[in-house]
Amino acid sequence: MKADLREEIIEAIDIVDYIGEAVNLRRRGVNFVGLCPFHQEKTPSFTVSPEKKIFKCFGCGKSGNVITFAIEYYGLTYHEALKELAKRAGIRYEPLTEKAKEELTKRDRILQALEYAKKYYQKVLYTQSGNVALAYLANRGYTKATIAEFEIGYAPSGWDNLLKELTSAGFSKEILLEAGLIKQKEHSPNEFYDLFRERIMFPIYNHSGKVVGFGGRILKEVENQPKYLNSPQTDLFDKSKLLFGLFKGRNEIRAKESVILVEGYADVIALHQAGFKNAIASCGTSLTEEQLNQIARYCKTIYIAYDGDEAGQKATERAIQLALPLGFEVLIVKLIENEDPDSIVKKYGAKAFHNLLDNAKSFLQYLYELAQSKSILTRPAQKSKFIHYCLHLISTIPDKLQHIEFVQELADLLSLPYSQLETLLKEKSKLEKEKVESAENIAKPDFSINITKQELELEEEQLISICLEFPEAFDLLKIKKFHSEHMITENGKLLFSILENHYGKDILNNILIDPEVPQEKKDYFVNLVLSKEKLSERWEKFGFDREEKDTGKILEDVYTKFNVKKIDLTVKELRKKMVEDPANQEQYLKKMQEELRRKQKLLNFLRR
Ligand code: UTP
Ligand code: MN
Repeated sequence: MKADLREEIIEAIDIVDYIGEAVNLRRRGVNFVGLCPFHQEKTPSFTVSPEKKIFKCFGCGKSGNVITFAIEYYGLTYHEALKELAKRAGIRYEPLTEKAKEELTKRDRILQALEYAKKYYQKVLYTQSGNVALAYLANRGYTKATIAEFEIGYAPSGWDNLLKELTSAGFSKEILLEAGLIKQKEHSPNEFYDLFRERIMFPIYNHSGKVVGFGGRILKEVENQPKYLNSPQTDLFDKSKLLFGLFKGRNEIRAKESVILVEGYADVIALHQAGFKNAIASCGTSLTEEQLNQIARYCKTIYIAYDGDEAGQKATERAIQLALPLGFEVLIVKLIENEDPDSIVKKYGAKAFHNLLDNAKSFLQYLYELAQSKSILTRPAQKSKFIHYCLHLISTIPDKLQHIEFVQELADLLSLPYSQLETLLKEKSKLEKEKVESAENIAKPDFSINITKQELELEEEQLISICLEFPEAFDLLKIKKFHSEHMITENGKLLFSILENHYGKDILNNILIDPEVPQEKKDYFVNLVLSKEKLSERWEKFGFDREEKDTGKILEDVYTKFNVKKIDLTVKELRKKMVEDPANQEQYLKKMQEELRRKQKLLNFLRR
């Protein structure tokens, strides 16, 4: 893929126009803002910069350019995105030649392998060796239509059925390995075998409907074998982001404005078949915030229908804790003892499950009943702890109006005066706000967000920032023979070398379109350029005149401050050495004085 095509696309497409088709954007200063399409929010923090040709959400942190948006929002593959955007921009996009096909990115190739495997497993289900699996599925009550809809298949017994099938279809072992379909034999590194054998295969789709992995259920439960075997964790198959049933149910979820969160694949399938097409499940892991953000793209209400056992209770509580701060309405479905949603619809019918949904409880009611069943509320110390916990949960709900309702509900449940609980909640909110604010003050430098995780000196960041802002600053540094190795921290060196490697008319977008650069670094650069404050205001904080237009002068100052910082660190190091190595104290002292004189000169320069 020629880099120029991507550059051309970014240059040619009006990002405000393009994103504006999906998000309602309003002008704010030089930028445009709207409600973020990647997470749920009430006040707009999704920002589009027509000048920088990038977007960034200050709520969830997602950022990128038009290509990223096409991939993330419309669920296109990289190639699809380029094709579509090129068409839109009226740029010719060469259709793939035979040779180019071979060069299809690895990711696409892995997706193809997974798709091929899915079809293979489906085919096997209807052959002789699949008979036993088909009978099992029929016995569990799955209809032909359901089996087809979920594209359920069967991995036959034998060690290399899939391996043979896919290699003869032209897939390399490397691709199959990365797709998580085969494994390497432990003692003979050049031999491989099928990961899934004698298992019912449930394809798992990503948010754009591509198969990214499988859950494989054993036919008969045996010891030492997991009931479900899932594809190994890869970039494509990231269980913390995927939800089984979400893609299939997305329209129904939008229509019903809710999801039913269940524990297992079988539950999702049975519920879909019974007409509850908004049922979803995480793939054998506990619920994550990323999964909730996915849900938030479609609806605001979650019915939790986890098993009533200890593990289910824990999972429910965790889901409540995560979902409330994201603004979800959380309702808990109390299932029939020793049953899961799958067995309930089978034994008692869809109507029964419908009733359970209708009787779903608020999170407070649920916790109250749980506490009661554990006799917690009869002991003052534990009861107090329980109340504080509930108030804490309430305080995490973004919509303050709901606080009143839930405090009222809690007061009713516990037969306590409303005013008393309200006072407690207010104290709690105040305390937590202070905690957050002081944490922010300590942790966050004031001119950029989210850089606390990076180990980087402020002065290094200023240097990076100015190079991103003014390409000519970069040239001036080159003249000074400055390069990444002169940075202070390892991270600074890495970040600066990324700048060096993407030098050009639009460094930032060159970085954004490079798949080799890790997302966190991309986010970092975007943050730096598109922080909430205007650049001029940031410069002011650096101690520069807001009206200063002379890049050369700004750079000189930034660069001088950077060097002062370096001297300070050297001096600190020398002090330490003087203590550790007293024999050479004289020399250290001399060096230190030298450094301090240099520093003085630099400071004089700054005061010019
Ligand atoms: P369950 O044990 O509740 O299974 O696991 P289930 O969904 O009711 O399945 P059936 O009815 O026995 O067929 C719930 C979920 O936990 C994950 C799977 O995602 C499963 O759907 N799990 C379970 C695993 O990943 N590995 C296992 O060995 C077991
Ligand atoms: Mn089950």
